[in-house]
This record gives sequence, structure tokens and C-alpha cells, in this order.
Amino acid sequence: MRMPLFRGTKRWVVIVAAMLLSSLLLSACGENSPSVLNTFGPVAAKEASLFWFTLIVATIVFVIVEGVLLYSIIRYRERPNSPNPEQIHGNTTIEIIWTIAPSIFLFVVLGATIYTMFGLSDLGGGNKVEVRVVAHQWWWEFDYPNYNIVTADSLHIPAGAVIQADLVSNNVIHSFWIPALSGKLDVIPGHNNQLLFKADMNATGQKFLGECAEFCGAQHAHMRFDVYVDDQNTFNRWVSAQQQAATPPNTGAVACKSPIPQSDLVACGAKFFAQGACVGCHGIVGVDLNGYNDPKALGLIGPNLTHFGSRDLIAGGILENNPQNLALWLHNPQDVKPGNDMPDLGLSQDQINALVAYLESLK
Ligand code: CUA
Repeated sequence: MRMPLFRGTKRWVVIVAAMLLSSLLLSACGENSPSVLNTFGPVAAKEASLFWFTLIVATIVFVIVEGVLLYSIIRYRERPNSPNPEQIHGNTTIEIIWTIAPSIFLFVVLGATIYTMFGLSDLGGGNKVEVRVVAHQWWWEFDYPNYNIVTADSLHIPAGAVIQADLVSNNVIHSFWIPALSGKLDVIPGHNNQLLFKADMNATGQKFLGECAEFCGAQHAHMRFDVYVDDQNTFNRWVSAQQQAATPPNTGAVACKSPIPQSDLVACGAKFFAQGACVGCHGIVGVDLNGYNDPKALGLIGPNLTHFGSRDLIAGGILENNPQNLALWLHNPQDVKPGNDMPDLGLSQDQINALVAYLESLK
């Protein structure tokens, strides 16, 4: 069926126009979306260079092949009284040329790829920061073994340092990817991969998007994290703050009967947290819940919440961290992110208000 608008217009003109328009629209998505070509670290930069090099080689091949093809089509087209052109089937010289020429191009690309691959581990000097990256379904845990910190959804790194990411999964295959800084590397159960990357000094103060790049279940698209590139002093301050244990509020004197007075919300939240189902999956360092005081001591199901209030994202990046969103999440996590590990706990509005006040107070 032909649309009346295009009646009389050659079909190929419509197709070409549609392709040009869609590429324009797609390129407009670029503003804040992460691009592997807008790089802020040597690993991503080397990979981007390899992309451009391969694109140039491929373009040369394309122009040569299409040029010869178009020339042949036009030069030897069917015309009245034109003789058949000379047939070259089985011409040894031409067979050799078109076997060797593509091989040369492929070897050039292979050489550039191998050169880039070996160069990826050479990141120059800089102090090293080890991060154990644990992929859950569906959120990222960041464990800094040398600093005794465990956090979630936000990765903090100092600019100029070599980041050694040890990638761990105990469930399915994920893929760790920070488009502006690092390439992708699969996170495979039973086979821990290691990824080295670095953020340039001029990335200091910037925030980058990290994501999962391997389909890992229903909420694969909602497995994101923020990467904060700090200067060394800011990073050190962040480390010291994260190393502090939470101070438990005095929960002895509060009754927590509805309606809970504003002044009691934080203490009541702490009480609900400790007495409710929360502690089955979550820990808060400094609050003695199930003997949980060492962030590395337990393989918890849910994120370590010790400094929950200092994070910008919750629930694997599906929501920004603010009181309204946290209340929405606690009301029924399965509505927000179907299939995730946190069940609907049937919390009352009072309990939700108190838990929001308490968790957001954990800076
Ligand atoms: Cu994890 Cu996709």
C-alpha cells in the first residue's frame, strides 16, 4: 500500500529521507547520554581510537568496493547493440589481488586491535585503588577491601589513580561498563575478572554513568550506578566519612504509637528497622543488628545501609534518593521494580515515615 503523501515520489527517495531524518533524531539524544567517543580515561580513549581507526579502514574499503561496483554497473549496463563485456571468470591475477588485498586490510585491523589490547593494562603510574565490584540482581555493590568500606549504587574514585576492579557475581552473568572511562568486562559467576581503568585529571569533579551491559534478567535496564571522580583530598574525606560507624539513636524512650510526633521519627525508624524484617537482608555498621558490625563479615542480600543518606541513587539506580522516592519504594518495592529481591513488607504509613526519616539521616 502506498501512502498518498508519497504518491509519485520515487520510493528510494522516501527511504533515504527517512534514514537521514532518523539519524538526525538519534543524534539529538546525545546531550547527557554517555558516549564511548567522549572519553575521560585512557582505557576508553584507547578503545575510541581503535574504533576511529577501524572506521577509517572500513571506509576506505567501502569506497573502493562501492566505487568499482558503481563503475561496473554504469560502464557495462545493457544498451542497444552493445557487445557483451570481456568475461574475467577464472582470471588468476584478479583472483590473487582480491584475496591478498582484503587480507592486508584485515591484518592491519588485527594488528591495531592486538596493540590496543596489550596497551589497555599499561595505565602509567598513580596509586592503586582496589574495588571489589559485586553484581547482584539488580544492583551493584562496591567493596573497598583496603578501606573497610562497603557501599552500593555509587562508586567513588580518585582522579589519576589506577582503579583495579575485581568483578564478582554469585548469580548470573553481568557486564560492568562505564562508557566514558572503561570498556565492558563480563562479571561471570565462578570466574572473577579483573578490569583496570583510570579517570583523567580533567574528569575531577564530574559524575559518570555506569551500567550493566549484559542481559541479566527482568530488571537488567535498571542496574545502573553513578561514578564520582574526586580529587585525592575529596576522596580521602569521603573514605573517612564512610569508615565512620552510624550512631544509633536512643530508642529507649520513644513509644512510636500512631501518630508519631515529628521529633520521634528518626528514633522510631531505628526501632522499626531493628525489630522488623529489614535486618534480615540489610546491615548498618555501628548498629548491632545480628552482630553485623563488619561490612565484610556477612554476605548480605540487600545493600549495606550505613551511609544510605549520602547516596544519590537507590534500588540499583531506578530512583533518585529523596524522601518521596524512598517512601514510594518502601510502600511496595515490587511495584517500583518488579522481580527484585525486596518483598512488599506491608508497612504502615507511620512505619514508612519513620523509616524514611531514619534512613535519610544516615549520612
Ligand atoms: Cu546485570 Cu544486566
